[in-house]
Amino acid sequence: MIAQGVSGLLRSLLNGLSATKSHLIYPHRAAGRHCKLTTQVPGRDLSTTKTLQEAPGEPSSAEQVTVHFINRDGEKLTATAKEGETLLQVVVNQNLGIDGFGACEGTLACSTCHLIFEKDIFQKLDAISDEEMDMLDLAYGLTERSRLGCQVCVKKWMDGLTVQVPMEVSDIRKELEVGNQNKQ
Ligand code: FES
Repeated sequence: MIAQGVSGLLRSLLNGLSATKSHLIYPHRAAGRHCKLTTQVPGRDLSTTKTLQEAPGEPSSAEQVTVHFINRDGEKLTATAKEGETLLQVVVNQNLGIDGFGACEGTLACSTCHLIFEKDIFQKLDAISDEEMDMLDLAYGLTERSRLGCQVCVKKWMDGLTVQVPMEVSDIRKELEVGNQNKQ
């Protein structure tokens, strides 16, 4: 009787441990991408990396990066980004008025954060994932220099970067034709 009780207790404990383990292996997917901070310049191998969460407090000027967005109507929006943010986070955190941008909050489900880069910058960006490629295929006005802003992390070497916001935006859940409205 006592042996059965101990056995049942052990089984319960093991089940509890198993549930905890699977929770650790498959954590809830946090919204958006977490960038790595890096001092690496593309083409050079001298780098140190740390996660965004490891950067305490306000960014030093050395971690600040100026980014320019050419909006759908041609207006130039300039933001001071923090190294390690995604370009989506820059738009949201600095409250830049870009219509329909980042509808899925960086969960790779909308393609509304489509951005077009200058050729030399585009070639230096981190490799594109299959998931980003799939979502990018659904974007209006796709170019050979297109990426999703929620997947591109700001790096120090990007200081002075200018990116183009396409005239039109598509959200697979709700299509918006901002460009057409602007033209009218
Ligand atoms: Fe939706 Fe980037 S914000 S895919």
